[in-house]
Amino acid sequence: MTSPAFSQHLLRHDDHGVTTLTIDRPDKLNALNAAVLSQLDAAFAALAADSSVRAIVLTGSGSKAFVAGADIAEIQALSAAEAHQFASRGQALMLRIQRLDKPVIAAINGFALGGGLELALACHLRVASEQAKLGLPEIKLGIMPGFGGTQRLVRLVGSGRALEMTLNGEPVSAQQAHAWGVVNQVWPADQVLLQAQHWAATLAKAAPESVRGILEAIVQGGDQSLEAGLALETARFALCCATADMQEGTRAFLEKRPAQFSGR
Ligand code: COA
Repeated sequence: MTSPAFSQHLLRHDDHGVTTLTIDRPDKLNALNAAVLSQLDAAFAALAADSSVRAIVLTGSGSKAFVAGADIAEIQALSAAEAHQFASRGQALMLRIQRLDKPVIAAINGFALGGGLELALACHLRVASEQAKLGLPEIKLGIMPGFGGTQRLVRLVGSGRALEMTLNGEPVSAQQAHAWGVVNQVWPADQVLLQAQHWAATLAKAAPESVRGILEAIVQGGDQSLEAGLALETARFALCCATADMQEGTRAFLEKRPAQFSGR
């Protein structure tokens, strides 16, 4: 099923459990204005509730940018109180994405700057085009990251590289981002979306309880104490073992055939 116009600035394409969401504001390099942010929030709420959706790819329209940041024209007009609200709202969206119990892959087809990189960092996996440039250039605007970039980047790459990227504000190449662990894979520009969709299709066929358990244990458990994270892992492991998919997965291995998971 294809439903191209999900909302004014978002396109949605569904294919066998994989939903591709495209931020569609190419004349402004897909910058996140208030409308895009609220449409993304509504879209991710809808995808969370839709049981036919098993994995999500998030990308940007056009060949130039994934997302070139939060909308600088809107930021310029913010008072301190409004800026507080703006950052809280953006952070809530990023948290919604990160805590989704379905995998989200960012297909970074070009610039991922500021809020654009923060959006990609909230996704579970990142696949980038060879031409992509990734950075947190907020310092050059006299501001700083406000959609979770300081917190997610330091967790992903450590404080040395996070401080380098935020204090220098210079974007890095996809290859550098890959070497640092900011992105999982780098592909030629014409393959990046297809490769992300291919990865998502594989995840869409996995046992959903395994996927949910892994996401929760790593995303939420990773922010807790080791003991709390281990308790979460134990509970989720036990839930997997209560499924027909666990029976199928283990039987398929012993019978030397590919598993066919049913989601039960
Ligand atoms: N917010 C609002 N508008 C943006 C934007 C942003 N973050 N990034 C790009 N745009 C707009 C430009 O103002 C321009 O609009 P116009 O055609 O109406 O003038 C349009 O998108 C195209 O961008 P342009 O700068 O002309 O493209 P470029 O190829 O010369 O440069 C970038 C591309 C990404 C290097 C440059 O747009 C840029 O530096 N953007 C801001 C990046 C940033 O600081 N992001 C962090 C924001 S918190």
